[in-house]
Formats: sequence, C-alpha cells, structure tokens
Amino acid sequence: MTLPPIDERTDLYDDAERWSVDELRAHQLERLQTTVRSAYDHVPHYRRQLEERQVHPDDITALEDVRLLPFTSKKDLRDNYPFGLFAVPREEVVRIHASSGTTGKPTVVGYTREDITTWATLVARCIRAAGGRPGDLAHISYGYGLFTGGLGAHYGAEHLGCTVVPASGGNTEKQIQLIQDFRPRIIFVTPSYFLSMIDAMEALGIDPRETSLELGLFGAEPWTEAMRQEIQERVGMHATDIFGLSELMGPGVAQECVETKDGLTLWEDHFLAEIVDPLTDEPVADGEQGELVFTSLTKQAMPVLRYRTRDLTRLLPGTARPAMRRLEKITGRTDDLMIVRGVNVFPTQIEEIVLGIEGLSPYFQCVLTRPGRMDELTIRIEAQHGVGEERKRAIERELKHHIKSRIGTTARIEILPEGGVERSVGKARRIVDERGMS
Ligand code: DLL
Repeated sequence: MTLPPIDERTDLYDDAERWSVDELRAHQLERLQTTVRSAYDHVPHYRRQLEERQVHPDDITALEDVRLLPFTSKKDLRDNYPFGLFAVPREEVVRIHASSGTTGKPTVVGYTREDITTWATLVARCIRAAGGRPGDLAHISYGYGLFTGGLGAHYGAEHLGCTVVPASGGNTEKQIQLIQDFRPRIIFVTPSYFLSMIDAMEALGIDPRETSLELGLFGAEPWTEAMRQEIQERVGMHATDIFGLSELMGPGVAQECVETKDGLTLWEDHFLAEIVDPLTDEPVADGEQGELVFTSLTKQAMPVLRYRTRDLTRLLPGTARPAMRRLEKITGRTDDLMIVRGVNVFPTQIEEIVLGIEGLSPYFQCVLTRPGRMDELTIRIEAQHGVGEERKRAIERELKHHIKSRIGTTARIEILPEGGVERSVGKARRIVDERGMS
C-alpha cells in the first residue's frame, strides 16, 4: 500500500515541541503553581476541597505535589452547574461548550479569549503533527454546536492557515459531494462516521482512493489499529488519532504524529497527566495501565484539578517529540467495561476481531441483557452486501469462536442485513444496555 508522501521538516514546530525535558518540567511546575493558586483564590469548590485537605497553594513546590490535590469528576461539574467552576467573571468568558452525558444536566465548560487562542494553537499543532500544512483545505465533519469537535477543529485549522469547510456532521451525500468538488487534503471526522462515508462513496460508484483526501484526524471515540489499517487501505490516506475532552479543552490534548503513528503525543506544556489505579485511586508508574487523570496548566476560565477522565491507557516515553510523553491508543473507558459472567470485555476488543473477518461490516453493537440471573452479551452486526446465507452461518461461528478464544466469553451473534445497525454521524453507540428493562 502506498500512502501520500509526508513533509518531515521540523521548522514549523512550536518552541515547546523542542524543549528539553528539564525545560518542560520547569514550565509545568510554574504553570501548575499558577493554576492551583487561581483555583484556590477564585473557585469556592476548589477552595473548600483544598482546605479540607489542609493544602495551600504554597505547598506545591514540585510536580509530584499534584498528588496533594483533590480529584475532580463529572459529578463535580454537574453539582456546580452551570458556571460554578469558573475562575473568572462570566463576562470574561467568550465561549461556552457543553456535553450532554448520559444522565441529567449537561456539563458546562467555558473559555476566555486567551483560552480560545491556546486551544486554536494546540489544534494547529495537532494538524501539523498529522502532516497538515498552511494552505491545505480542511473538511470538518465533527459536529458544530455545544460539542467541542467542530468548532475546536475549525479554529485550529484557521489558525494554521488552512481553508476550512465547516461541513459539520450528517447528510452524507452532501459531504461526499463537497469532498468531490472542493478536493480537501485533510478531513476531521469520527472514525465510525468516516467508515459510513466510505461505504456511501462506494455505493455511489466513487472509489475513495480517487478522492483528494491524504490526511485524517480521527477521534472523539475509541478506535483500533485494525480500523486504521482498513481506512488507510481503502482510501490510501494517512489515518492519525486525535484525542481530547471538553472538560479539559476539547480536541487537541494529544495527537498522533504521522511519521510514527505510535500513540498520541501529549501536549504536556499545557496538561499534566497522571495514570491512577481506578480501584485504589493511587498513581501508577509510567508504562502501567490505568485511568487517565489530568490537571490543566494554562486554562484561565475553568482550571481543572486532577480530572478523572475514565479513559484507560498508559503513558509511554516520547518518540517523535522526545521530551513529551505519549498516550497509548485509548482502548476503553472504565464505564465502557462490560463484565459478562466475570470476564472483562471492551467494545474495541470486539472491533479488532470483527475487522479481521471477511464479509463482516464494521457496524456492530454490543447488547447486554439479563434474561435470568446472568448477563448475556449479543453482538448485533451486519454482513457485507452480497454475503450468502451459508457464508453468514460460517461467519457467525467464526466470530463466536474468536470471541471465546481471544476474550474468553460466550457471545450470541445476530447477523443483520445491511443498514440494520444504527449509524451515527458522530460518536458511535457501541453498548446497548437492556438489562434494566428485562
Ligand atoms: O470528544 C473531543 C474531541 C472531539 C476529541 C473531536 C477528538 C476529536 P467529549 O465529547 O467531551 O470531547 O468526549 C471526551 O471522548 O474522554 C474519550 O472517552 C473519548 N475520546 C475522545 N477522543 C478519543 C480518541 C471530545 N482519540 C471523551 N480515542 C474522552 C478514544 C476518545 N477516545
């Protein structure tokens, strides 16, 4: 497979991308001290929490002292709905975003003008790391609105000097027409929606390899190495991973560099990461798996202390940007974990297997039911167009066998006709939990 050539010049890097580890740590400490001071002085929630632990901002004298700080969770954001965690007067907040979440009120985040500039700078850095350059045309299919994906990508691409097409999500045929007519080099989209776009192209008789697309920044949901291979092969483009979360900023917290594609370089000049054991809350060493926890280092409107992301990953040493550590591709969330008869199962493990079986489409859902006392896992999945009944039975057996032998659990398989599994134009819903209703 030949992929488009990439420009490996480093002269466009931000200064921070060239810092030594010592320079990086020195900036981080100074910024951590400023952040804790601002949270203590201006956010009653944090002041209360710090006082309860008898921690004063002056106690932060080393980066490890981050462990003295309280954790923050989505619940804290909800409890302080809507603007209770702002550290600046509301008038200084120039933008609000919110994420819907699964229950109750949305979680609200705010940005000062300078926060917006920082965000745009970081997304521009992501685009460069993904191979993009000023002057490129960027098609943005992340949703615009309260979700941070669309506007976050938009401001970053403009900041870099790209020509931006704010397509937003949905209306797949229109998206394809815009891609055909405007000839973007870069696309921003969730990986699951991009797969539906390529299927739709093929159904319209368009060969995705003939499009102008060379670089994709795929994120907002977990995806696997197998999906990267599939996208790269079917489209002949580079597929890199972009990570972020609204509570911390939005897209652009970490980005995979196109020259290595070995996990996501974490922009550590703006975010201090820890990995903690989700059961004991104790930090674990680099290289060990656990829950990703972030403290913001430069946010003005809404500093966050030790935010529990629920994302599971590992911190790895830097490669393409040697002083900055990498995040291993995020394979699941603590709340995505399905425990089926005692066996831990993540949807990404199923995805990896599904993509390895000829004749299956990548659209699937894991449905959890409890017909008696025991949980049952059913994989609802589509066969590709034209797959006959006999082959379907064989696929079913193959999928069941691989799930049993590689993950260790028994799953029922339901093969649906094409279009039978819900399509999403944003984040795919991989888990359907019907246990409460049975
Ligand atoms: O999803 C921000 C974003 C938009 C990132 C566009 C990348 C591209 P939230 O809606 O707040 O923000 O959701 C954040 O999405 O904690 C992860 O669980 C998941 N997530 C985001 N990026 C990735 C990724 C945006 N690259 C939550 N891989 C995070 C795996 C991801 N999961």
